[in-house]
Amino acid sequence: MSSQVHGAQKFDKAKRAEIAFSEEAMKTVQTIISRYPEGKQKSALLPVLHVAQAEFGGWLSPETMDYVASVLKIRPVEVFEVASFYTMYNLKPVGKCVLEVCQTSSCWLNGAEDIVKYIEKKLNIKVGETTKDGMFTLKVAECLGSCGTAPMLQCGASFHENLTYEKVDSIIENYKAEGKLRSYTDLDYKNTL
Ligand code: FES
Repeated sequence: MSSQVHGAQKFDKAKRAEIAFSEEAMKTVQTIISRYPEGKQKSALLPVLHVAQAEFGGWLSPETMDYVASVLKIRPVEVFEVASFYTMYNLKPVGKCVLEVCQTSSCWLNGAEDIVKYIEKKLNIKVGETTKDGMFTLKVAECLGSCGTAPMLQCGASFHENLTYEKVDSIIENYKAEGKLRSYTDLDYKNTL
């Protein structure tokens, strides 16, 4: 896979050689693939990318995408095309907790902009940045389908709704105390992917 395809992220052959799913993750991946007809394993790409992102530090490096391509027996560029289209896949390193604040109409009308500013100030980062301790990345997202409980944010598989500054404080404190990587596979890793 060429470094041109991935912009600033260079492909590293040595790193690629080190990448492999754990036994448990590989079992999950095989289960996902088995849901599709023979030769149609590309259909498993989205959930397999979620497993890969959760397994390899919360983001999809060029080496990880190359590995996923080899598992699914498809071309690396096919993986990149999908991974670069959806905002839930991170193509550069992120913090353990990615806070995605919805900024679409219902959330915007109910104060999402102020919530974003509050988090920026509290964590001393701007949208798109990661805290120095590698704990939090702040992003904004389009409608996350929870408009009735606006404003809201998503972190991995968890929704946090009807946000207030106090709620934001406790969300951030709780995640800090847990100190672990949050992923879209957190809630029901084995059954829902
Ligand atoms: S507008 Fe924010 S969840 Fe729909």
